[in-house]
Amino acid sequence: MTVQFWLNDQLVETDEPHGLLLLDFLRKRKRLVGTKEGCKEGDCGACSVMLGELKDGQVHYRPVTSCLVPLGEMHGRHVVTVEGVTPKGGLNPVQEAMVERGGSQCGFCTPGFIVSMSWYLMCGKGEPTLDGFKRAISGNLCRCTGYNSIKRASEDVVAQYGPGGQHANIWNASDRVVALADAGFIPSHFKGMAQKLADIDHSHAGSADDGNVVDFFIGGGTDLYVQRGEHIPDSTVAILNRYPEMRGIRVQDGWYHVGSLTTFEQFAQHPEIRKVIPKVDEWLWLIASLHLRNRATIAGNIVNASPIGDMSNLMLALDSELVLRAGDDERIVPMKSFYKGYKQFDKKPHEIVTEIRFPVPKSGTVVHFEKVSKRKALDIASVNSAAKMRISDAGVVEEMSLTAGGVAATPLWLKDTSAFLVGKAINTDTVRDALEVAMNEISPISDVRGSAEYKRLLTRQFIISHCMKLSPSTVDFQELA
Ligand SMILES: Cc1cc2nc3c(=O)[nH]c(=O)nc-3n(C[C@H](O)[C@H](O)[C@H](O)COP(=O)(O)OP(=O)(O)OC[C@H]3O[C@@H](n4cnc5c(N)ncnc54)[C@H](O)[C@@H]3O)c2cc1C
Ligand code: FES
Ligand code: FES
Repeated sequence: MTVQFWLNDQLVETDEPHGLLLLDFLRKRKRLVGTKEGCKEGDCGACSVMLGELKDGQVHYRPVTSCLVPLGEMHGRHVVTVEGVTPKGGLNPVQEAMVERGGSQCGFCTPGFIVSMSWYLMCGKGEPTLDGFKRAISGNLCRCTGYNSIKRASEDVVAQYGPGGQHANIWNASDRVVALADAGFIPSHFKGMAQKLADIDHSHAGSADDGNVVDFFIGGGTDLYVQRGEHIPDSTVAILNRYPEMRGIRVQDGWYHVGSLTTFEQFAQHPEIRKVIPKVDEWLWLIASLHLRNRATIAGNIVNASPIGDMSNLMLALDSELVLRAGDDERIVPMKSFYKGYKQFDKKPHEIVTEIRFPVPKSGTVVHFEKVSKRKALDIASVNSAAKMRISDAGVVEEMSLTAGGVAATPLWLKDTSAFLVGKAINTDTVRDALEVAMNEISPISDVRGSAEYKRLLTRQFIISHCMKLSPSTVDFQELA
């Protein structure tokens, strides 16, 4: 099927393979070589582009790494490269600030930084702040300039466009992107894009779960393209993101229904999720980068079956179930019985996960997550752990669901430790006994992420931390450490 989308100010129609990487299409077919190829694994951000998608009559843009995005998913989207954020005959405000502050030396990383920073200026939440810029560029690496110049460039933009700045009035506009385009700060092709995207025909989208066997079901592509990237363009693929029915989060009949294509970032920003997991946004800082979280789906994390999958461990602790479908056949598998061994799970090749659902936590439930990795940002865990816990007014545990990642062949539900704690008062002695049970449940191995002994230590600390979150005044960390 022909893929039709807007690329900067051009309408593109292409019959190239749907699995072709957007990065390769941009550089090799369109010769838009401002978008750089660095690691091709989502780690450096040199290939950053903005992806605009029509929702409720407005185009919503997100920065993503084009080295992990399939071309076939671009149907009906607006793809903005570094060439497309530069106004005619000039520079945009972040480009000017980067020049002024010497934010570029060899320049290889610069287009990626410019795209991420321009996105933040155009679409970041609220008035621009230095913290906001830092978050926006969390997936961009620079090997030579040094981040201080880039930070100073961000500060300049904040000074001009933030509170009290000469252009602060932009933030009162009902549509900031249009206001920036009207003022000539960004190109005019952003104006009217909603209508242009609405005019693209979506009628032939079909259904993702027709039961057909394909070589690859692609969710966000952030695992698949790293592992199998060279095979995908020549294979049959189903691009799940073209089917909007598997998106969105709703609360109904006592369950949270999380569409399988929900990205990490959508999960963390959703008001219903924040009601029961208020700290979720804070933890997400420890997971990948903004660009990756904008793509990585929860189902992809679960089906990838890495023992250290962050969302897999969290969803497991929440007592989630997976809705699996192939054609008209649907079945529900609790996550606690989904994993069978290393990268083995209860899913047939032609089944897709359409939804992840978990029971609405009872009032007073505490959800907590811990992760330690070698690097604080953009790194996978050495060990991670999640907990869903509830305690009575009398201090007795009524509910406990603990998980640990990186200490077994699969994300591990700590069944025995959880059961041991239910019905007990949380105090230093109980936690000490629970740690003993946990040490018998896990079987970590030494690898690049740490020795088996270190992983045992982290698991202990995480369980203590969970219990202290639940009952801070009755657990003495010093005695347990
Ligand atoms: C730079 C980088 C940093 C990362 N950091 C982290 C991190 O900090 N923490 C972490 O947990 N992970 C991390 N990851 C791993 C990855 O981003 C996640 O595992 C992500 O959730 C995968 O989701 P996806 O949608 O991109 O999956 P894809 O790559 O699209 O798919 C992964 C697997 O799941 C299958 N699949 C996807 N969706 C479905 C579905 N709906 N039904 C059936 N099968 C499906 C695919 O066929 C494939 O086998 C990182 C990856 C990169 C490249
Ligand atoms: S090339 Fe490094 S993130 Fe894409
Ligand atoms: S300027 Fe050289 S890598 Fe950033």
